Amino acid sequence: MKTIIEPFKIKSVEPIRFTTPEDREAILRTACFNPFLIHADDVLIDLLTDSGTSAMSAKQWAGIMDGDEAYAGSRSFFRFEAAVRNLTGFKHIIPTHQGRAAEKILFTIVGGKGKYIPNNTHFDTTRANIEFSGAEAFDFQTEEGKRPDFIADFKGNMNIPALEEFIKKVGPANIPLCLITVTNNSGGGQPVSMANIRETKRVLEHYAIPLFLDACRFAENAYFIKTREPGYATKSAEEIAREMFSYADGCTMSAKKDALVNMGGFLALNDDTIALNARNLLIVTEGFTTYGGLAGRDLEAIAQGLEEVLDEHYLTYRIRSVGYLGEKLVAGGVPIVEPPGGHAIYLDAKRFAAHIPPHQYPGQAIVCELYRAGGIRSVEIGSVMFGKYDADGKLIPPPMELVRLAIPRRVYTQSHIDYVIEVVLDVFARRMDLRGLKITEEAPILRHFTAKFALI
Ligand code: F0G
Repeated sequence: MKTIIEPFKIKSVEPIRFTTPEDREAILRTACFNPFLIHADDVLIDLLTDSGTSAMSAKQWAGIMDGDEAYAGSRSFFRFEAAVRNLTGFKHIIPTHQGRAAEKILFTIVGGKGKYIPNNTHFDTTRANIEFSGAEAFDFQTEEGKRPDFIADFKGNMNIPALEEFIKKVGPANIPLCLITVTNNSGGGQPVSMANIRETKRVLEHYAIPLFLDACRFAENAYFIKTREPGYATKSAEEIAREMFSYADGCTMSAKKDALVNMGGFLALNDDTIALNARNLLIVTEGFTTYGGLAGRDLEAIAQGLEEVLDEHYLTYRIRSVGYLGEKLVAGGVPIVEPPGGHAIYLDAKRFAAHIPPHQYPGQAIVCELYRAGGIRSVEIGSVMFGKYDADGKLIPPPMELVRLAIPRRVYTQSHIDYVIEVVLDVFARRMDLRGLKITEEAPILRHFTAKFALI
C-alpha cells in the first residue's frame, strides 16, 4: 500500500516560533510548570488540544464571508440546522457557543440534587457542569478500557452490566439521562462500538432513561466502527454516524472537534419540554435561538465542516496520522494507551515515569519535560486533572495517569509528527531524570487550568 497522504494542499500558512532550551526553561518557570499558563507564541508544536484548533477549508472560509448576521431567522442558522438534523435526525437543534454551554443548559434543566448522570467516561467540563447543578456524575468504563496496555478494538465502550446495576441501586427515576461519549476522550480517545451503543440503549429503554451522545468526535468514532466492527466495512462513515445518532434521544456537541471549526457547539434533542426550557435558558445565557452565542458565519462554517469531516479520504488520513505517531512511539518502547485513539496519543505516565508516585504527578513531570526538550505542549490527564482529596486531604488518584498528545485537525504535516516522535523518544531515554511536582496553588473545580506547581 502507498503512503496515506494529507488529502489537501496548503493555501495559507502560519509561522511557528522557535525558542532555545534556555528560553523554555525560563518560560516554564514563569508559567509555574502549568502548560495552560504558557503563551501559545512560545510553543513550537501545540498538542494541548484538538479542540478549536482545526484548520478550516477554503469552502469554510468562503462560508465565513457568506454568513448571514441577522439577529433572528438568519439564513446561516437554517443551513446549520439542516446540516445537524440531516446528520443526527433530532427534532430540536439549539446552537451554543461551545460544547460546555450545551452541557450547562442541559444539566441546569435535568440535573440538581439527588440526580445521577452516568457516562462511559465524563469529560471534565461535563462532570463539572453536572456537579455544579448539584447532581452526581458516574463513570462506567469497561475493565479492558482501564488497562492502557490491553489491546482491543472498542476500549471506549460503556460497562453495561455495571451501568444496569447502578440503575437498580439508585433508581431509574433519579437518572434523568445517560451519556455515552464518542470517542471516549478521558478514556484514551478510544472508540465505542455500535453494538455497545445499541445495547446501552436497549437497557436504558427498559428503565425509560433517555440516551444522549457526547458527540464531539462522532466522525472519528464512525470511522473506527467502519474499520473494526463486523458488518460496517461497506457502509459509509455518514451512514454509520446516522445509525449511532439513531439510538440516542439527544446529544451535546462541541463543534470545535469534528465540525472542524474554531468555535461552536450545539444541543440537539427530541424532547419538546426540555427543548422549550433549553431555548429559554439559551436566550438568557447565550443568545437568541437562531444564533445561540455564535455569529452567523460560525454557523456556516459548522454546516460545511460537518460535511467535510465525513469525507473518507479525510478520515483515513486523520486516523492514520494519529496511528503513525502511536506506532513509532511503541516501536521505541514508549508506553502508550494502546491501540492509538482517534484524536490523540496518550502516554502512560505510570509506566513512563514509574519512579514518580501519583501524588507527585508523573504526567505533569513528562508534560514539562516535553516542553523543555522540544517546545511541545501536551496536557496531563491524571491526578492533576481528576484527582480528588479524601477527608484528611490525601490525594485520591484516578485509575490512570496519562499525558495526552492531541493532534489538531489538518494542521501539522508528517514531518511535524516525526519531530514530535524524536522529542518523545529523547525524553523517554532520559526518563529517570524526571522529577515530581507539588501543587502550590489550586482552584476548587477544574484545577488543572490554573494550578501552580513547584519542583520537588
Ligand atoms: N465533551 C468532550 C468529550 C470533550 O472532549 C470536550 C472538550 C467537551 C465535551 C466540551 O466541549 O470545549 O467545546 O466546551 N474537550 C476539549 C479537549 C477541551 O481538549 O479535549 P467545549
